[in-house]
Amino acid sequence: MKKEDLKFIKDFAEMAYEAYLMGWHERNGGNMSYRMEESEAENASFLYDENAPWQKLDISVPGLANEYFLVTGSGKYFKNMIKDPEDTLCILQISEKGDSFRILWGLCNGGRPTSELASHLLNHEVKKRVTNGRYRIMYHAHPENVIALSFVLPCDEKVFTQKLWEMMPECPLTFPEGLGVVPFMEAGSIELGRATSEKMKDYNAVVWTHHGLFVSGDTFDEAFGLFHTVEKASSILVKVMSMYHGDGSLLQLM
Ligand code: 13P
Ligand code: ZN
Repeated sequence: MKKEDLKFIKDFAEMAYEAYLMGWHERNGGNMSYRMEESEAENASFLYDENAPWQKLDISVPGLANEYFLVTGSGKYFKNMIKDPEDTLCILQISEKGDSFRILWGLCNGGRPTSELASHLLNHEVKKRVTNGRYRIMYHAHPENVIALSFVLPCDEKVFTQKLWEMMPECPLTFPEGLGVVPFMEAGSIELGRATSEKMKDYNAVVWTHHGLFVSGDTFDEAFGLFHTVEKASSILVKVMSMYHGDGSLLQLM
């Protein structure tokens, strides 16, 4: 077995590159994590550094005890994940108590998992529970139209959901449960992680006001597709809103 044969790493890095091409990942913006299947964790074991030290988490995730994750590194560029997964990604294992992790593979030139690790793990814990283990992907990026809307729409999930549902008939089919919205909070904070994971009990996509979008899914395609749909509907709404004057009348062509 070679690293190149591990399909989940290939799928992960391919999605990262496609998302980069969409313009959602300026510099190191965004992060992603994948909860590995048992067989994938076993098949990848030839890569593992079994002496890797345990590091304490600032949160406790007992629902993820002994789970393995493929996670983006903090400060790493999505653009580079496909050509250099060892440098930009890592496989980490959660301890038996769910209060520590260790890096078994990756980040070969040093570094840490994403600064949003708390959000990712808290969301995984919720989604694993409410979907009976089906959901495995957590994905966050900085899509410009969702962010722009979060400056002009009220921080209200009913309004966000209704407005985006109206933009394309695809929307109520793709996110029938609607969208969660959390107010602006410090990036990388546990507070942001906790607020998002509360929303993940009911929603698959959560708007991070003035920051971006966080989605969950059972496959890479589903997570990417949901993210794409929300951002595309947001771009239509931005266009429609910019065709109106301040008094609500429509701009007329000469
Ligand atoms: P990381 O590079 O630490 O993942 O941070 C990027 C980001 O988007 C923070 O919200
Ligand atoms: Zn971010």
